[in-house]
Amino acid sequence: MLVLLSAGLRAQQVPDWYDAGHERRIDSLLDIMTLEEKVGQMTLFTSDWDVTGPTIREGYQDDIKTGRLGAIFNAHTAEYNRNLQRIAVEETRLGIPLLFGYDVIHGYRTIFPIPLGEAASWNAEAAEESARIAARESAAAGLHWTFAPMVDVARDPRWGRVMEGAGEDVYLGKVMAAARVKGFQGDDLTDPLTILACAKHFAAYGAAQAGRDYHTVDISERVLRDIYLPPFKAALDAGVATFMTSFNELDGVPASGNEHLLTEILRDQWGFMGFVVTDYTSINEMVPHGIATDSAAAGELAIEAGVDMDMQGAIFYEYLAEQVRSGAVAQSQIDEAVRRILRMKYALGLFDDPYRYSDTTRESENILTEANREAARRIARESFVLLKNEDNVLPLAKDGGRILITGPLADSQEDMLGAWHGDGRAADVITLLTGMREAAGDKAQVQYVSDMTEAIRAARRADVIVVAAGETWEMSGEAASRADIGLPGDQGAMIRELAAIGKPVVVVLFNGRPLAIPGVDSTATAILEAWYPGTEAGHALADVLFGDHNPGGRLPMTFPRSVGQVPIFYSMKNTGRPMDPNNKYTSKYLDESNDPLYPFGYGLGYTTFEYGAPSLESATITRNDTARVSVELTNTGSVAGTTVVQLYVQDVIGSVTRPVRELKAFERVELAAGESRTVTLELTEEDLSFYRRDMTYGSEPGAFRIYVGADATTSNAISLTLE
Ligand code: GLC
Repeated sequence: MLVLLSAGLRAQQVPDWYDAGHERRIDSLLDIMTLEEKVGQMTLFTSDWDVTGPTIREGYQDDIKTGRLGAIFNAHTAEYNRNLQRIAVEETRLGIPLLFGYDVIHGYRTIFPIPLGEAASWNAEAAEESARIAARESAAAGLHWTFAPMVDVARDPRWGRVMEGAGEDVYLGKVMAAARVKGFQGDDLTDPLTILACAKHFAAYGAAQAGRDYHTVDISERVLRDIYLPPFKAALDAGVATFMTSFNELDGVPASGNEHLLTEILRDQWGFMGFVVTDYTSINEMVPHGIATDSAAAGELAIEAGVDMDMQGAIFYEYLAEQVRSGAVAQSQIDEAVRRILRMKYALGLFDDPYRYSDTTRESENILTEANREAARRIARESFVLLKNEDNVLPLAKDGGRILITGPLADSQEDMLGAWHGDGRAADVITLLTGMREAAGDKAQVQYVSDMTEAIRAARRADVIVVAAGETWEMSGEAASRADIGLPGDQGAMIRELAAIGKPVVVVLFNGRPLAIPGVDSTATAILEAWYPGTEAGHALADVLFGDHNPGGRLPMTFPRSVGQVPIFYSMKNTGRPMDPNNKYTSKYLDESNDPLYPFGYGLGYTTFEYGAPSLESATITRNDTARVSVELTNTGSVAGTTVVQLYVQDVIGSVTRPVRELKAFERVELAAGESRTVTLELTEEDLSFYRRDMTYGSEPGAFRIYVGADATTSNAISLTLE
C-alpha cells in the first residue's frame, strides 16, 4: 500500500539521547567484533528469576561468557545484576556491557494504579510522575530498560491487556504515551536514575479479533494510521529509545516479519533511531502463523523486516551467523542492528561505567520510600471514577456510623497490585479494609464480614454496606481474555441480596477491564470504579470514601451494557441508517440498547459542574489558524472539585466517512464551590487531519461540529468552518 506523505508527517527530530561522538566509537567497535559477537548483541534471554512467557533457556550465564548474549530480562536487584554484568565486562573478549530489561509497567516495587486506571485520571503529569518514580526504583535495582509504555489502543474489553494501556481513545492514548516515555527516560539518559522506555506492541495488538489475545488483526491501512499508530508516533516524538513488535499478524504478515511496519513506516517515514526488539519468541511463532517454513526462515524474515533484537527466541542466536556467511542475509543489516543496540548502551553511559546502575546504597535509598508511597496514594485517588452516587450516600460519615465491609476483595493485598506488578509485593499493600479502619479510627464502627450468609445478617445492623467486588488480578493482563465480562461468580447475586435489605450499598469495583454490570448499576446505591489501585490502595480508597478527596476520574474506556454490544466505543461511524427507535430498518439490536452503560469520559464527583454554551474566537478559520473554543465552567455544588473539560470534534463531511466525534483536547479544572472560570481549548489543522480518500494525510475544508462537555455524550456544541 503506497501511503503518500504530506507535510503533516514529520520524521523524528534527532532525539536528545543521540550523540554523534558515540557513532564513531561504535564504528571502531563494529570493526573488531566477530560475527558471533554481533549476533550476541542481537540476542535477549530471560534470566531464571522471573517468568513472563512460555519458555526458559538453561545456561544463559555461559552465553554471556562467550559473548553470545547482549541483553537479559527478568533479572533485577543491584547485586544480582552486578554479578551478571561482571561476567560480560571482565570475562569476555570485548567487555561489552549487558542491557538489563524488565516489565516495569506501573511501578517497580511501589506499585501505582494499573495504566488503564492511571489513564482514568486524565492527568499526564501524574502519569509522567509515576513513570519517573518507577524509573528511579528500577534503575536503583540495576535495570536499564523497561518494556513500557504499552500504547495499544484497545476497544474490546474482552481482551485482558486493556488493563495495560490508556483505553479506547487515540488522543488520550497519545497524551499518556508521551508522558510515560518522558517519565521513564527523563531528559538525560546518562542520569543513572533514568531508564530506556519501549513503545509496545507495534502494532495494533489491541485490535485482536473477538478480544482473544494473540488473535488475528485485520484492519484497513486507514484504521491503522488514524487509530492504532498515533500513540506510537507520540512515543517516538517524545524520544522513546526502543519499540517492541506485537504477536499479531497485520494484513496477513506477523508484526515481527512486517517490513511495512518496521522499515517503511518506523524507519523510512518516521525516522526512528533506536532499536526494535521482538516480543517473547514472536519470531519463532511465524512458523505456526504459517508464514515461515521453519525457524531459520522466520529469522531471515525478521532481520529483513527490520528486527534488531530477538527476545527469548534464540533464532538469531542459532541461525543468523550462518545466514550471513551463506549470503542469505546481508552483513550490513547485522551491522545496522548492532549499531542501534550499541547506540542505546552508549546513551546510558554503560561503556563509561558498566556498573553505574548497580549501586546497593542508591537501591536502599530509592525503593518503596515514604515519598513514593505518598505519590502512589495521590495518583491512585485520582484514578478512581465515581459511577453512581444516589442520595449522595458518598462520602461516608467518619464518625458514628456502623459500616459493614464485605466482598471477596475487601482485604486482598495481592489483588490490589493488578497484573504486571513487577517487584511489587502483596505484603506492602494497604487493603480497602485496612485503609477504612485506619481512617475511621474509633469514630465509626467498621465491621468486616467475609462470609456471605453472615454478611446478610450483619447488614441488618449496619448503617451502610461497602462491597468490594470485581475480578481477581489474574483475570486481566496477558493471556487473560474473558468471553463474559460480567461480575465473576455470584457477586451480582450477593449485591442484590444486600441491596434488598434496604440499607445503602456502596460497591467498590476492582477490575482490569470495563465490566458489563447493568445489574449492579440498578441495585447499588453508589459505585466507585477503583481498577487496581496498587500498593496504597486502601489509603487512597479511604481518602475518597470518607470525602478527604473528591473523586475526579473519568472513564478512559466505554462500559458496555452487555458483551453483545462489543466492540462499542464513542467514536464510531454514523452509518447510512443511524439508529431510529421508530424505524425497524435502522442500525440497532432487537434485545439491547445501542447505548453504553457508562460512556467514555464519564465520571461523577461530590460536587456538580455546569457548562455554558461554547463560543469561538472565530467561526471560520484557515489551515494556518488556531481555533480557540471557550466555555464558562461553574462549580454549582457545595465543595471544591475537579472535572475534565473535554473537547470533541466531528468532521461532518469527508472524502471518507468520519467518526461521529473524536476527542481532540481536554483540561482538568479544579474549582472551589460556586467558582466560575472561562476555559479555553485550542484546535489546529493537525487536530482536523486524517488519512483522506487518496491516503494523503491532512485536513479538508468544510463544516465541523465542536462539542465541549463532561463526557463523550455531550450535546453542548458550536459549528466551525475550515476554509
Ligand atoms: C510478554 C508480553 C510483553 C512483555 C514480554 C517480556 O509476552 O507480551 O508485553 O514485555 O513478554 O516479559
